[in-house]
Amino acid sequence: MPRVAIRALNEAVRLKINPSTLDDSMFYSVPRRLKDALGRLLNVSPEEIVIGNSASYGLHLLANGMPWKRGDEVLLVEGDFAADIMPWQGLQSKGVKTRFIRPSNHMPDAEELEGSITENTRVFCTTWVHSYTGHSIDLESVSEVCREKGVKLVLNGSQAIGYKTLDLNRMKVDAVTSGGYKWLCGPYGTGFCWIEPGFLENLDYNQAYWLAMQGEGSLDEMKTGIVEDLGAKKYDVFGTASFHNVMPWTASVEYLLSKGLPSIGHHDQELMRRLIEGIDAERYEIISPVESTESSIFVIKHRRGNTREIYNRIISMGFHVSLRYDRIRISPHLYNTVDEVVSLVELLNKFG
Ligand SMILES: Cc1ncc(COP(=O)(O)O)c(C=O)c1O
Repeated sequence: MPRVAIRALNEAVRLKINPSTLDDSMFYSVPRRLKDALGRLLNVSPEEIVIGNSASYGLHLLANGMPWKRGDEVLLVEGDFAADIMPWQGLQSKGVKTRFIRPSNHMPDAEELEGSITENTRVFCTTWVHSYTGHSIDLESVSEVCREKGVKLVLNGSQAIGYKTLDLNRMKVDAVTSGGYKWLCGPYGTGFCWIEPGFLENLDYNQAYWLAMQGEGSLDEMKTGIVEDLGAKKYDVFGTASFHNVMPWTASVEYLLSKGLPSIGHHDQELMRRLIEGIDAERYEIISPVESTESSIFVIKHRRGNTREIYNRIISMGFHVSLRYDRIRISPHLYNTVDEVVSLVELLNKFG
């Protein structure tokens, strides 16, 4: 987390230790400020942001709230992250089926998607950047196919948003969900969802959180009647006043906005270039795309050695990378310098 976020977290802790300094109005102003920042990030009205606590939150909202009929089908990508698959699999008892596209090159292209859509397909749910390979879908062409076919495009932006720009005013997706604790530099237990307002209006989901129903009125006299027409706010995660999460995450998103996503993207791409050009391809198989620096994730596997052993060695030297499916995943972002990436590459290239 950026230093400003750590300061905001400390402030949230201070408020908890000194509750007399926590004004009731913060129950409204703190989540509102987060929505303002996310609205700016995605170029939509803050009123359209649903505060979540994960990527899964928004996916479950959609899976449980869409008006299904027996025989409806959800199209998924084989090998996608589990969070994109499981919420839909739970719809079996309603007669809703899941079907998988098996992409010929990591992620489906528009043609593969088009060929997989049937008259029963209602939703195509996919990750934007794949968690284990770094390959991404071509959002523009995939979204065009979905629009032409009348299929809802549900996008998981967890491994992309914060490093890639998503302008929802321009890009036609029907819903986006994301965790806040990856490329958006927030604490764990954060996330958001955006659902196109017409789509949101048609959800049939019983959610009536008492705090959302109070408008922004005083907390000393509670309304108990359900307020209709709350819009996206109806679906905010319970406990919107989770100050320890919302305050630092807001500070992180505001920080990213102040730096500008294009310049963060520029920095990240330079880090990626160092990885792609620096890693010894004789020693390592590079799973992620090498033809461009646009991926957020760099994934490699040692051709001869023990990848787990190499992972353990580099971790013990203070590098924070992940081991996924016996591959090393490197996710450099604005918290890294070029020198750090160069020294990681030098170290990796020393392993036989
Ligand atoms: C694409 C993707 N979606 C979701 C998650 C996590 O899901 P959630 O935020 O629901 O815990 C991850 C990784 O942890 C991920 O890589």
